Amino acid sequence: MDSQQLEELRKKHYNASVVYLNKVHSDLLIMRVKPDFPKPAHVPGQYTTLGLGYWEPRCPGCQEEQIKPEDATRLVRRAYSIGCPILDGDRLVDMDKADWFEFYIVLVRESDKPQAPALTPRLFLLEQGSRLFMGERITGHYTLDPVQDGNTVLFLSTGTGEAPHNYMLWELLRRGHKGRILAACCVRYRRDLAYFDVHQQLMKRFPNYTYIALTTREADTIHNKVYIQDLITSGRLEEELGMPLDPKNTHVFLCGNPKMIGVMEKDPKTGERVYPKTLGVIEILEKRGFKADQGSKERGNIHFEEYW
Ligand SMILES: Cc1cc2nc3c(=O)[nH]c(=O)nc-3n(C[C@H](O)[C@H](O)[C@H](O)COP(=O)(O)OP(=O)(O)OC[C@H]3O[C@@H](n4cnc5c(N)ncnc54)[C@H](O)[C@@H]3O)c2cc1C
Ligand SMILES: NC(=O)c1ccc[n+]([C@@H]2O[C@H](COP(=O)([O-])OP(=O)(O)OC[C@H]3O[C@@H](n4cnc5c(N)ncnc54)[C@H](OP(=O)(O)O)[C@@H]3O)[C@@H](O)[C@H]2O)c1
Repeated sequence: MDSQQLEELRKKHYNASVVYLNKVHSDLLIMRVKPDFPKPAHVPGQYTTLGLGYWEPRCPGCQEEQIKPEDATRLVRRAYSIGCPILDGDRLVDMDKADWFEFYIVLVRESDKPQAPALTPRLFLLEQGSRLFMGERITGHYTLDPVQDGNTVLFLSTGTGEAPHNYMLWELLRRGHKGRILAACCVRYRRDLAYFDVHQQLMKRFPNYTYIALTTREADTIHNKVYIQDLITSGRLEEELGMPLDPKNTHVFLCGNPKMIGVMEKDPKTGERVYPKTLGVIEILEKRGFKADQGSKERGNIHFEEYW
């Protein structure tokens, strides 16, 4: 394709611009995207889509990709939770005035699926001012809808799964939520905790808020991994909360790696719903009186968003 054809494709498909880009490290970024269209109505916890053309270049060091000829002029789109910086200086950011959306994205270099990762190797070559596609529809049931003032709220995540939690946390703090709020995030390395300092500041300002960071591949943690599941089973989560986990007034939000979440699966032989082989948070909590959402109509007190 010549450069004029590329420009035409970009003009036709792209409807948003990168207005801020923070490369936390080579494989992790925080990006703010300003759409050309008016900001769609949405609530914290929801997601939209981002997209780039298959014609865009990919970062070096990623799994090789075979593009089908019919895809050459198409967009690759993926879902992304809307995140939030939470603070602007020393006060809560005014998200109602922001004309951008924040995204928190990890570079997937190798996929566990047969197809190579298509979008993130392209997103990681964007710069401030770059153009891209953003979906006009913001959707999702992973929201604060079921939470009442005074409830205990737990936000448990792995990796970039903290993105929707940051936006929900901001909403609870600005509402003056009276219950306890605890967020825990489990990542490979300390450098993967892009919002660490923000959470430290929040803990100083909001006595009902606690943040726990877990790493699993640093020299001092690799042989002694504490997953989100271990945080609960060891009793540390309740210790930090300062009270026992009470299913009657607690809502738990789980986001990120599906193995941490552990949604029940259908047994192919019996058709019965069974917990996955790897112990996830849902199994641990359901055995302690909690109930996971089953679809958007049968709501429990465990809510989850699986990223893959
Ligand atoms: C509702 C929803 C919201 C999402 N929000 C975010 C978000 O805010 N930030 C974000 O980084 N990703 C998010 N994702 C994942 C995102 O949609 C893409 O799958 C991801 O960015 C990789 O895209 P890709 O095309 O490069 O690879 P894909 O082909 O989409 O994925 C390849 C493989 O990468 C792994 N993978 C995908 N996403 C992640 C991840 N976030 N962390 C670790 N491993 C992963 C999985 O093993 C997956 O099978 C979300 C997914 C869903 C369903
Ligand atoms: N993070 C990086 O520095 C980095 C660098 C290069 C590429 N990548 C790529 O980025 C993608 C995402 O990596 P990521 O680190 O953000 O996400 P991730 O692989 O989901 O890991 C996030 C956290 O979840 C933990 N985890 C793994 N299995 C679990 C389970 N069964 N239950 C509970 N927790 C579990 C991980 O611990 P473990 O240590 O046990 O995995 C890690 O602490 C991958 O494709 C990866 O190859 C990441």
